[in-house]
Amino acid sequence: MPETAPKGLTRLAFGGDYNPEQWPESVWQEDVRLMREAGVTLVSVGIFSWALLEPEPGVYDFGWLDRLLDLLHDNGVRVDLGTPTVVPPAWFYRAHPDALPVTADGVRYAFGSRGAICHSNADYRAAAARITTELAERYASHPALAMWHVHNEYGVPVSACYCDSCAAHFRRWLRTTYGTVEAVNEAWGTAFWGQRYADLEQITPPRTAPTVGNPGQALDYKRFADATMRENFVMERDILHRLSPGVPVTTNFMTALSQCDSVDYWAWGREVDLVTNDHYLITDGRRTHVNLAMAADLTRSVAGGAPWLLLEHSTSGVNWQPRNPAKTPGQMARNSLAHVARGSEGALFFQWRQSRRGAEKFHSAMVPHGGTDTRVWREVVELGASLDALSEIRGTRTRADVAVLWDWHSWWAQNLQWRPSEDHDARERADAFYAALYDHHLTVDFAHPEADLSAYPLVVVPALYLMTEAAGRNVERYVENGGTLVVSYFSGIVDEHDAVHEGAHPGALRNVLGLTVEEFSPLLQGQSVRITGPDGSALTGDVWTEFVVPRDAEPVWTYADGPTAGRPAVTRHRLGEGTAWYVSTRLDAQGLDVLLGCAVEDAGIAGRADLPRDVEVVRRTGESGTYLFAINHTASDVKVALEADGTELLTGERAAGRLALPAGAVRVVRLHG
Ligand code: GLA
Ligand code: ZN
Repeated sequence: MPETAPKGLTRLAFGGDYNPEQWPESVWQEDVRLMREAGVTLVSVGIFSWALLEPEPGVYDFGWLDRLLDLLHDNGVRVDLGTPTVVPPAWFYRAHPDALPVTADGVRYAFGSRGAICHSNADYRAAAARITTELAERYASHPALAMWHVHNEYGVPVSACYCDSCAAHFRRWLRTTYGTVEAVNEAWGTAFWGQRYADLEQITPPRTAPTVGNPGQALDYKRFADATMRENFVMERDILHRLSPGVPVTTNFMTALSQCDSVDYWAWGREVDLVTNDHYLITDGRRTHVNLAMAADLTRSVAGGAPWLLLEHSTSGVNWQPRNPAKTPGQMARNSLAHVARGSEGALFFQWRQSRRGAEKFHSAMVPHGGTDTRVWREVVELGASLDALSEIRGTRTRADVAVLWDWHSWWAQNLQWRPSEDHDARERADAFYAALYDHHLTVDFAHPEADLSAYPLVVVPALYLMTEAAGRNVERYVENGGTLVVSYFSGIVDEHDAVHEGAHPGALRNVLGLTVEEFSPLLQGQSVRITGPDGSALTGDVWTEFVVPRDAEPVWTYADGPTAGRPAVTRHRLGEGTAWYVSTRLDAQGLDVLLGCAVEDAGIAGRADLPRDVEVVRRTGESGTYLFAINHTASDVKVALEADGTELLTGERAAGRLALPAGAVRVVRLHG
């Protein structure tokens, strides 16, 4: 069994990406002194260092990395060592220009940035294996080594390559997946538009075509590209496992749906020893802490509920959004500790020392351009002390109240072209339902549609266009056995090949929902509908309506106007011991709040109506105890009722009855008993 926690780390992880090759070695001395001052325990090094480590083919220069690792070790800082395979050196591309990826339009990217990789390219694979082997052989037994950091953020900036090597590799993948060309024709429905293939050799990647291409081909290409990146990860991981046993291997995910859409993290979560994640606030005016909580919950879920590690976030602003506001005082700690509340075993940043040169010099860092006499540095030092005070939570697990079904394959399929409405966006629904659950103060686990759901009183399906028959049966069994299910429109429509399930919509869900959908009738831009409930109260929907035909389900809300006026809009179906809700329009936040209120009641979940909006309360539990994290994202002081007395770990104070939670503050209470 490979190790699942950074080797030799006895406290929570605190630190960041450390890129000292950008600085003279004299600065390194100051770096380690400041790391000690801030309580840094772990840094990631070497992620982009291939050109320095192998300046010429087969010629290695490890001297600087030897000195660096020794220096870090002498100063008690553990090392997460990168394999630099996300940026091969310029000499490599001179020799192998074919390793540069090609877009669907046939444009070959150039060297000069990072992540320009065709993952099918044999020369790239061989070179990546060589540098990984060299590093593993040299550093496997270095006392500073805590973890291996393979590559960087698979899936971005290039999500798929469309070159000829990839075409050949795709055909091999099809042969393994389907066996015969007939099976591919059947799966992709190539009878439509005369796309039938007589031989697998005739198949190419879904390159730019005159109009919409075959959806089955496009969906499989996403799967292929994801699987190909994973092959390369596994290739490096296996070298590291072989040469460096006992040291966990990870690669940094970007689970936030707004930051990476090309990687099936359910599959990746099974391949890494420890799930690690990068998270950056999208500062577009939305409640950034809700998006953060969602990414953290999704990360924990792809880790199967096990502890994970936040490998990158920012101390303040980033520099790659249109507008990059600085974090407000206290926001960094709220962000870092919100990740910890949701299962992270620490908090690391991009990056340690802010660069003077290069593309990311305006991205914040732990040591800003302004040095240590800055608010950011003072808050970094304070955070280090906070994390130190929380050491005992290591290994505990976050407790969730509800599950939300999520599947990257369904998202990919949903995003293909020519759908009933381009305004329907699966991610938007996932975000909206998540926010509604957050506002009910419920902690969310995400689950794959075929996963065991029996532990959850409530399961929410925000938008799951693609559902296998097995997934349909899974949620049906869940409801029969007493679960409460909430399904939003345009779910359960197609199978794994993007083929519509046989019979009336929604094929995978019509039994559990007790209804059929005769027709979709999306709304025009700006159009909305009113739906009225049993007590006459009205809610608003937009984007989508449907002609719902209840079979065993009872109508609860009815369309008051719009194309489907007079017909059911929201239904409830009692099946076996449980209940299944269906909502056929896009409810706004208020509507989702009301709907989820009904479902929460059906599920018998005790609400937290006493907690104000934007006060986050999450629990971690384990052998060392139960820890209540309370995070106040508001500008008012509040009180949080405690179910037991306890000790607050950041202030050391006793907490009894009601916990005082000042504006903007975080408190962590070890509950007694
Ligand atoms: C990503 C990368 C880092 C850095 C940060 C900040 O997460 O992994 O190398 O570029 O973004 O922009
Ligand atoms: Zn390629």
